Amino acid sequence: MEYITILIALLSIFISVALNLYLKGGYRTKNRPPGPSGWPVIGNIFDLGAMPHQSLYKLKSKYGPVMWLKLGSRNTMVIQSAAAAAELFKNHDANFCDRMSFDVFTSHNYDKGSLAMGRYGPFWRILRRICATELMTNKRVNDTVPIRRKCVDQMIKYVEDNEGSEVDLVHLLFLTAFNVIGNLTLSQDLLDPHCKEGHNFYKAMDKFMVWAGTPNFADFLPFLKFMDPQGLKRKMNRDLGQAVEIIAGFVKERMEEKKAGKEKQSKDFLDVVLEYEGDGKEGPQKLSYDKIVIIVLEMFFAGSETTSTTMEWAMAELMRSPEKLQKLKQELNEVIGDNKKVEESDIDRLPYLQAVVKETFRLHPAIPLLLPRNTMQDTNFMGYHIPKNTQVFVNAWAIGRDEESWEDSLAFKPERFLGSNIDYKGQDFQLIPFGLGRRICVGMLLGLRLVYLGLASLVHTFDWEIGSNSGSESIDMNERTGITVRKLVPLKLVPKKRIKMRN
Ligand code: HEM
Repeated sequence: MEYITILIALLSIFISVALNLYLKGGYRTKNRPPGPSGWPVIGNIFDLGAMPHQSLYKLKSKYGPVMWLKLGSRNTMVIQSAAAAAELFKNHDANFCDRMSFDVFTSHNYDKGSLAMGRYGPFWRILRRICATELMTNKRVNDTVPIRRKCVDQMIKYVEDNEGSEVDLVHLLFLTAFNVIGNLTLSQDLLDPHCKEGHNFYKAMDKFMVWAGTPNFADFLPFLKFMDPQGLKRKMNRDLGQAVEIIAGFVKERMEEKKAGKEKQSKDFLDVVLEYEGDGKEGPQKLSYDKIVIIVLEMFFAGSETTSTTMEWAMAELMRSPEKLQKLKQELNEVIGDNKKVEESDIDRLPYLQAVVKETFRLHPAIPLLLPRNTMQDTNFMGYHIPKNTQVFVNAWAIGRDEESWEDSLAFKPERFLGSNIDYKGQDFQLIPFGLGRRICVGMLLGLRLVYLGLASLVHTFDWEIGSNSGSESIDMNERTGITVRKLVPLKLVPKKRIKMRN
């Protein structure tokens, strides 16, 4: 409470000083994109509201698809149409591929070892190359099919054991994704009841994801950093610290095993980063221990919530549209058979499943503003002068709802993708849930495989009924922001087994 009082006092002083400057005309520079006029010092912070992607979408009708905001001291450009996104990713990606720094991510030097938050440069390129080889190549992703199979089987088993009772879907899906990442990166079943570190890690991660996703005044008004007005850095230090310690334990253990000459049959992500030897050209020839801990941690951070939240939105949309759910079940029955499990190798033969997933990404991109970019030099963008160090939000959520790109844009209609070539892999700027360009999601292939397999298995194996808190007539589709956009009210469904599996 006392923080708020100090904050208000400081703000009032700065407002009066800056109002002077503002009235003398020094605040807004000409030749910027249009945007709402802001308050001195705080600028447009309050225009963002509780759901920034939604507030920005509303402002689009007044200011157009390229908008300018001043968030405290941060120059910010917002892109909200497929045409503007195409201009950015086709012609300006090289200049827009840096990241902004955020105060909470300086905790435990997270930003120094992170791929997602890392500044564009030699170290980022090295990490990107390692992760792309491990996560983005068909060969590596195919090698890990059995891991996803095992984790999805465990999920199905859990649902079977809870037949007839309410299942909190997103929690279950999060645990499944978390377990997949644990197996891929550390060859560990972190959710095994005997693995105490796994449970502590999961709990710490659940908390620091909230701190990481909360807008922080200290980012917009750097003079507040030392006060940490919302206590976010302090909480992040505590919870990220716990997660770092746990992952560090796994890394140390593996290093000792390697020293003792104990080699595993197949290499996991941790082996790959530990054995990295450089290319003799740029950057370090070995990754430091601290950085290895962070990059392993980031796989959990980046891969668990994005995939689970996507599957939850897909199930919520399907439950609201029984005829579409029925159509998907029918496709699965016809292609897979009513007594066989869905396999990843079946996905290519399931066009309606693919359409359901695309339609879910269109309406519910897990990271609606992508991860903010930062311009590396002054640029002329669509006739506007955009200075160096401008933060760039690309509103994938708004672009997915843009009437200019999509007919009946607010309706959930997977059919729109049947017979269409629109894809999220690079050239279709109206559908960009994974971002694009040099910073496109490095886990896209892995994330997609998990979403397809998880969703198809839930729909094919069970009939679902709406649980008590989800609203019997209409499912609550309100959003909750954090690092990803989740359903505000978690979807609770009651399963009933519908098929008897042979394999
Ligand atoms: C449905 C699943 C997923 C969605 C929707 C998603 C979405 C995104 C988005 C929007 C970005 C920012 C792209 C940009 O700035 O243009 C991103 C970056 C990233 N994602 Fe994903 N992601 C998913 C799954 C995963 C998985 C499974 C992993 C790894 C295990 C992963 C790792 C990363 C990393 C490391 C980055 C940073 C890339 C960079 O800055 O170079 N993601 N993701």
